[in-house]
Parts: sequence; C-alpha cells; structure tokens
Amino acid sequence: MARRILAAGNWKMNKTPSETKAAIEAMKATCASEETEVLLCVPSIDIPAALEAAAGSNIQIGAENVYFEDSGAYTGEVAPNMLTDLGVKYVILGHSERREYFAETNETVNKKMIKCFEHGLIPIMCCGESLTQREQGVTMDFIRQQVKVGFLGLTADQAKAAIIAYEPIWAIGTGKTATSDQAEEVCKGIRDLIRELYGDETAEEIRILYGGSVKGSNAAELFSKEDIDGGLVGGASLKPDFGDIVNYNK
Ligand code: 13P
Repeated sequence: MARRILAAGNWKMNKTPSETKAAIEAMKATCASEETEVLLCVPSIDIPAALEAAAGSNIQIGAENVYFEDSGAYTGEVAPNMLTDLGVKYVILGHSERREYFAETNETVNKKMIKCFEHGLIPIMCCGESLTQREQGVTMDFIRQQVKVGFLGLTADQAKAAIIAYEPIWAIGTGKTATSDQAEEVCKGIRDLIRELYGDETAEEIRILYGGSVKGSNAAELFSKEDIDGGLVGGASLKPDFGDIVNYNK
C-alpha cells in the first residue's frame, strides 16, 4: 500500500488565537486536497480556535509538544488527555528547538512516545544532525541513536503508526534546504533502521517526513523521493500559500 503524503505545518511560537482563526479560515481554500493529508500543529493555547476554524475542512489540527505524565504537579505542562479531549490526534515530539532550548533528550522523547501511544496520540518524532555533525561524517550514527532511543519499548504496530521527521538543524529556518538527494539518503537510512528493528512491513508503512526550509518551489522534488513521505514545514505553513506545498503535484 502506498504511503499517503503528509503536509504537516509546525507553527512554532507564532499566532494568537484570533490570528489562528483568521489564518485557518484563509487556508481552507488553498489547502484543500483529496490526495495529500494536511495537518497544522499549533501552539496549545491556539488549538481550540484552530479546531473551530478548521471544522468541516480537510485541515487537521495537532500539537507541538506534550508531557509524559498523565496529570499532577508539573506547572506549565500539557497532559496527553488534554489534547485527546479536544480531538487532537497528532503531536510533534523532540523538535530540535525543544532539544536545544528546553532540555529535551532522547530519553524524555522516548517517555513521551510511550505516553502518546497509551493515549492514542500519534507522535511525529523529530531527529536531525547539526552542521558540525554533518561535516564530521557522523550524521547517520547520530540519527540512528535518536531514533533507536526514541522508539525503545514501542511495538511494531506502534512504530508503524508513528511518524518520523528528519530535520537537519542547519536547514531549519535558514532558507538552506537539504538537496533532495541528501534528504533521501537520510530518510532511507532511517527506514533501513526501522527495518532492522521491526522488519519489512513496519519499514514499508511508517511515514518519514523531511523538514527544513520546505516551500512550494521545492516540495515536489523532495516528495517525489522514494523514502520521503511529506514535509514538516515551519515558516511556509503560516500563510495560505502553504497550499502550494499541499498541492505540490498540481
Ligand atoms: P522551516 O520550514 O521554517 O525551515 O522550519 C522547519 C521546521 O523546523 C519544522 O518543524
């Protein structure tokens, strides 16, 4: 079965609830698609407004982070059932910005992965190397470690449902996109690792996205690669022309 292309936005820390509502109203028309699956991951506080605005459209709303406990004294955190109660299905985990600024580690990402599946949430787990790591030739070693630890304890069925986003740190928000061959090489390496860990069926079903300066002009080339099943898009997901990425093949 062919893997369905996913165009996922990561709004990061942008837009108030009212701005969210207006933006999504405007994106409904441009992001309409029967083929591509469309998702916008927005700040937690914007989720209700986003869901309301997206109702009746093909745009799904996801979260950018979640905590690995069910409830309790964790000031400022959001629990998984707070997201599922709103109807949220997808959540980004382990984005490089969370690793860099909020002390997220492979181990905390793993705890969150496990917790997500307990609650029926689908994680989009991010991985990706720095420029130094790429230059030192340790890209694949580093990413294999991130994915291996992130997936520890997950069953094959869970792994199959999970999504991995390969986002080279040097390509995020820099306008510097990995070439489609560079992106494909790593995405294939990730799929090979999933094959080693879980076998062929899981490797063929799991979706692997590329992220880092994806835009309308490079989406078609990236998404045409064998092992790239869509994109995780920052800046270009904030405006109606996100539709150029959703409708990359038109
Ligand atoms: P940009 O698309 O703005 O480079 O951001 C990529 C990203 O970090 C998505 O998670």
